[in-house]
Parts: sequence; C-alpha cells; structure tokens
Amino acid sequence: MLTVKDLKDVKGKVVVVRVDFNVPLKGGEIRDDNRIVAALPTINDLIGKGAKLVLMSHLGKIKHKEAPEVVEEAKKKNNMAPVAKRLSELLGKGVHFCPVTRGDELTNMVKSLKNGEVLLMQNTRYEKGEEKNDSELASIWASFADAYVMDAFGSAHRAHASTYGVPSILKEQGKPVAVGYLVEKEVAALTRCVDVQEADRPYVAVLGGLKVSDKIKVIDSLLKKCDKILIGGAMAFTFLKALGGKTGDSPVEDSQLEYAKNCLKMANGRIVLPVDTKAANGFDNWDKIVQCKSDNIPEGFQGLDIGPRTAAMFTKELSKAKMVFWNGPMGVFEQDEFQAGTIAICSAVAEIPNSFTVCGGGDSAAAIKQFGFTDVFSHVSTGGGASLEMIENDGHLPGIDIIR
Ligand code: 3PG
Repeated sequence: MLTVKDLKDVKGKVVVVRVDFNVPLKGGEIRDDNRIVAALPTINDLIGKGAKLVLMSHLGKIKHKEAPEVVEEAKKKNNMAPVAKRLSELLGKGVHFCPVTRGDELTNMVKSLKNGEVLLMQNTRYEKGEEKNDSELASIWASFADAYVMDAFGSAHRAHASTYGVPSILKEQGKPVAVGYLVEKEVAALTRCVDVQEADRPYVAVLGGLKVSDKIKVIDSLLKKCDKILIGGAMAFTFLKALGGKTGDSPVEDSQLEYAKNCLKMANGRIVLPVDTKAANGFDNWDKIVQCKSDNIPEGFQGLDIGPRTAAMFTKELSKAKMVFWNGPMGVFEQDEFQAGTIAICSAVAEIPNSFTVCGGGDSAAAIKQFGFTDVFSHVSTGGGASLEMIENDGHLPGIDIIR
C-alpha cells in the first residue's frame, strides 16, 4: 500500500485528499477540532512538497429524500465554511474555500491553485450521489486529480463517491493513490487488535454502549481473538436477562436474548458481566439512586452505571492485560452521578504496565477526553464506526482496501 511518504514527485500536481472533517458543530462553532488536527501531518507533508491540495470531506447527515426545504436547512447547518476557517488557523496560512461541489466555480478555483496552496471543497454530502457512489460524480472529482490520498479513517467504512469511486477511477487511469499518515497510524493500531500476537496476550476487550444488536458482529469477532471480554453499559442487561436476571426497567433487547445466551455459552467463561449496578428511578429525571446486584434491579429502576464491585473486578482483569481494545462507556457518563464506572476503566488502563491500549473512538473517545485520560492510551481512534467495522471485518474497510 502506497503512503503519502511515497508520493515524492507531486510538486505542481493536484492531489485530492479525502479527510474526515466531520466535526461536531454548534451554532457554526466547532466544539472539537481533533479530527482536523489529526489530518495536519498529511496536509503539511503535501504542502511542503509543493503539491496543490484539494481537500474533500463530508459533514453531518443530509437526507436528500426529504422535502427541498428540509434539505436546504440541513445544508445550511452542515456548511463546511467554519472548518475552512479553523483549518487555516491551524495551518497558519490561508485556505481557499469553495462553497460548491461541482461546476465552473470549483473547476476555476482548482485551476488557479498555486504550488503549496490548499483548497477545501464544500461538504461532499451536498451531492446526493456521494453516498450512492455515483459514477458521474466520482468522475467529476477524479478529473481534478493527478494523485489521491485517503486520510479519512473515520469514513473508511463508507464506499462513497469520495472515499471509493474517486480512487477506483484514478487507479484504472494508472494514477497514484495512497493513504495518509493518519490512516497509516490507525491501520497499524487496529490491525494489531485483529492479528493478535502471543506477546499481546492476555488480550482484554471492554465493550459498553446501549445495544447488543449494534455490536453482534464485533462481539463474534472479539470472541475469536480475546482472552476476556468485559461487558458494561446498557448492553450488559440483555446478557443478564438472558441468564434469568431481574433487570428492572433497564433497556433490554428481547430480540437478542437468544443470541446473548448462545454467545455466553460459546465464550465459556471469557465474557465477564457486571455484578453490581448503580440504578435510578428514571433516565434523566430521577430522584432516587440505589446500589444493587446487577441481576436483581428493583422494578421502576434502571441501571445507569456499573457499581464499585464490578469496577474493581474489571480493574483486576485489566491489570493482567497486555493488550486492550475498548469501545463504549460503562454508564451514562454525561451525568455526574454515573461517571464512576467509565472513569474506573480509564484509571485501570492508565495503571497497566507495558501494554498496548486502544480506544475505539466515538463516545468512549469523548469520555476519555472529558476525564483527561486521552494520553494514557497507546492509540485513540478518530473513527467510531470505522474502528468497530475494522475489528468486525478482520482488518478490512472498503476505503482502505481500494488503496491496497
Ligand atoms: C463518523 O463520524 O463516524 C464518520 O465521520 C462517519 O460519519 P457517517 O456515519 O455520517 O458516515
């Protein structure tokens, strides 16, 4: 697989770079610029080589099947202009922003680029053909490029026009396609979590979040690789109910009870479930909290965090690990009263000596950032969905496989 390092002869050439600038925005303000910062090494490398950079990214969701006024509203909300401003601040140089995704304005802006200059195109999802990998759209974007770099790890599980169609066309034309530094780093870390070496055992996975159904494929894949899987978060209650536990008002996916039962059988003791729970009589408008056994939650109460005995048990398992993959918080960490379990996992990871520890993006990455533990992990992924799919599919993602 070529990497951006191998693109040596790009002076004066147009390099289309797919980045993931899908950042959280509130009222036009960027709330977390982590993904923009993560793309800087690739961008700076190409600037330094005198390439003409055309950056492309999606931002948010735009449902083109909705009424025209709803689509217009979504476009307004997900305009890429604030991202261009922040990118320019981070690079310490001007960034041209093209407010459209096709047509003369874009073509002329690309043609006018000078060596080392950067152009950020409007949100790729302004085009309804983006998510359908429309071939006409992909050919328009590919027509600008002398080379293509994929550095959007967070979007590499999407076979869209900008992540899949464009590099497919360029490959057919014999033009260079490569991955950027961020994708290279992400692939190395997550491949280690799927191609497990003996030196990385015991390998412990920690899974949380709401739904078992979202994580079936990842659980199946981890069961083949891990020595222990610690399950917290709301998804634990489906497993606890499958074992005959009383889960009160906790969210349970009844359709997954059979799966959970089989899964526990297959795991043969390698899945560790919570033994105690901090439960409340409501999700956010509660007025009573109780500490109880996880399989004996009173009616009217729902479990919102793992309890201290579970936190101690999970900490003990983690202390023996040589490799950890974590996805999904242990409780409703957005509420102060239910943060302790997630913080306990962060602290446990911080204490493991000589280990390789990966946080799989999404909510867990937000949690470790909130609690100040980002630096204790060997790797924090910029892609929630992408890192899970990488584990599910044994290291394969369409946006990366097309470059290989
Ligand atoms: C993400 O935030 O997970 C990626 O940017 C992908 O976004 P999507 O789920 O809207 O495709």
